[in-house]
Amino acid sequence: MSIAIALDGPAGAGKSSIAKRAAKALGYIYVDTGALYRTIGLAAMRAGVEPQPSAEVDSLLSRITVSLEFNEQGEQVVLLDGEDVSSLIRTPEASMMASKISAVPSVRAYLLDLQRDMAKTHNVIMDGRDIGTVVLPDAKIKIFLTASPEARAERRYKELVEKGTDTTFEEVLRDVKERDYNDSHRAIAPLKPAEDSILVDTTELDFEQSVEAIINVIKENR
Ligand code: DC
Repeated sequence: MSIAIALDGPAGAGKSSIAKRAAKALGYIYVDTGALYRTIGLAAMRAGVEPQPSAEVDSLLSRITVSLEFNEQGEQVVLLDGEDVSSLIRTPEASMMASKISAVPSVRAYLLDLQRDMAKTHNVIMDGRDIGTVVLPDAKIKIFLTASPEARAERRYKELVEKGTDTTFEEVLRDVKERDYNDSHRAIAPLKPAEDSILVDTTELDFEQSVEAIINVIKENR
């Protein structure tokens, strides 16, 4: 039987970088489910389809193939119709599109089996919004990783500046708050801690301390 760890929390809490490191240290596969929603968002952008429930979105879903692979370094690669879109899905536009399209019920249903299959075949730390509540309700450990909106915006702002993206802190903070609102107010699978989740708040923690906190929670509970 494979072991599943559900890691949920808002955008920019550092889930992906923290979980990647913890997964490596513990010998688990890190699965970033946000990349799947981003990929569908990218497909919608390319097709000029609005991110809301519609026959157009359903028809788009029936035409595309989204799949996950792991490269030699064990890093996740996401494919849209066989094309590696792992970098293309990381722009602010793709983030906002992903947040909007992830509220479409048929999009969530479309991605459910793909996520569950990953957990059936591997020991995973699965990162998302609804992993502990919907995707893997029987996960062995559920962690809800969060930090204040300001701390999360600060981190994301630094990342974007490092990548050379032209933006301001205020703009990033506004995006963080707008995505929080979208992600936690949608009718289906909203972002909320599972009842049996363990809360880890990284507002006051640096990266190394956050990794340590997650590893400790996993070791103490597995
Ligand atoms: O984790 P991320 O920022 O890459 O996720 C992109 C968007 O996808 C985010 O705004 C919410 C959505 N998402 C979701 O609804 N459910 C998940 N399990 C993962 C992401």
